[in-house]
Amino acid sequence: MQQRALLLSALVAVAQAQQAGTQKSETKPSLTWQKCTASGCTDQSGSVGIDANWRWVHSTSGSTNCYTGNTWDATLCPDDETCATNCALDGADYSSTYGVEASGESLSLTFKTGSNVGSRLFLMEDDSTYQIFKLLNQEFTFDVDVSALPAYENNKAGAKYGTGYCDAQCPRDLKFINGQGNVDGWEPSSNDANAGVGGHGSCCAEMDIWEANSISTAVTAHPCKEAGQTMCEGDNCGGTYSSTRYAGTCDPDGCDINPYRMGNESFYGPGKTVDTSSKMTVVTQFITSDGTATGTLSEIKRIYVQNGKVIANSASDITGVTGNSINSDFCTAQKEAFGDQDVFAQYNGMSGMGEGLEQGMVLVMSLWDDHYANMLWLDSNYPTDATATDPGVARGTCGTDSGKPSDVESASADAKVVFSNIKVGPIGSTYSS
Ligand SMILES: *[C@@H]1O[C@H](CO)[C@@H](O)[C@H](O)[C@H]1NC(C)=O
Repeated sequence: MQQRALLLSALVAVAQAQQAGTQKSETKPSLTWQKCTASGCTDQSGSVGIDANWRWVHSTSGSTNCYTGNTWDATLCPDDETCATNCALDGADYSSTYGVEASGESLSLTFKTGSNVGSRLFLMEDDSTYQIFKLLNQEFTFDVDVSALPAYENNKAGAKYGTGYCDAQCPRDLKFINGQGNVDGWEPSSNDANAGVGGHGSCCAEMDIWEANSISTAVTAHPCKEAGQTMCEGDNCGGTYSSTRYAGTCDPDGCDINPYRMGNESFYGPGKTVDTSSKMTVVTQFITSDGTATGTLSEIKRIYVQNGKVIANSASDITGVTGNSINSDFCTAQKEAFGDQDVFAQYNGMSGMGEGLEQGMVLVMSLWDDHYANMLWLDSNYPTDATATDPGVARGTCGTDSGKPSDVESASADAKVVFSNIKVGPIGSTYSS
């Protein structure tokens, strides 16, 4: 059973960073994507850049590691500011170090390469600019094969070296945030040899277009009080990395549609209606109230195309919740039916998410495992101590003891995902049966 998930999420762009190293050249793999209109699609030449967290970070003057395993060098990095001054992010060897291969319109990510685990890549407009998508009244489409899954001023690295990541968990495992190190308060992880949690987090609205493996899939909208990137402090960040999940200014849970969680156990998986044993096309539409790009986000709709057949998302089978798309009524009803705290509404729900989409978002593609909850929120019964038959608890067929990073990293090291044929355009322009 595959327990790995992929995340294709769109994030608000921020450009900020540290020093740039010169020990290795930075040559990003090219990735072609397409812009569509009613009369057809045209190729766009882009590339992918790996996130700063995966890069070698070393002394600006030489090659001494600033960060080794899950700890900072105390001399080079005594505090956040000094660390940013003393340390440089360097170029990446995409294929041999990180298992990232791009060819034409296709991107392949391998789970484990040598000692490296997973990767997180941004779609670039050019070598030093993230591609910004404005998706209101547009649709975003890609093909995926999951069958092999079980303006800060210290700005020399910037988007070229993959800094600026943020999401609605307000991640505190980032090594650099807003041009400074995340050294102060850093605690090495007890179960991840490569990660830790620092005193700052990086928040922004997050649209999870695709968090999935071959067993389960979820599409999730996570609004924040402020859609754009903000830096938060310690446990006040909330989210996964803090002891106080709801203390921050983002919605760490989001409003999600996972067909299995919504009561349809036969829709997504190997041999099911959407068959994860072969490639599929995934369409996500961002519909506005007035059918224009300046309207308010009213609905996020998912459609699949597989073997020439257009497949509507499965409808909710949960008492009190109707429909097969994310909208205000669906989200309110779902939170009530599942007994979940409605943090989504607290951060203005659909209109909060719409603000993020209006500002523009960056596409992030990653393959990862989960040292906090073993991915059980995606594909098992979660929380694990809840009654599995209560609405909202069952999310997939994986066991509650599955998905441990130590297991998946040894048993499924060569797992991979291929994303291809990324297309963006007006509603209905990016796919056909
Ligand atoms: C699951 O979804 C499929 C496709 O929409 C549908 O044909 C089937 O009846 C649904 N099953 C349940 C139990 O809701």
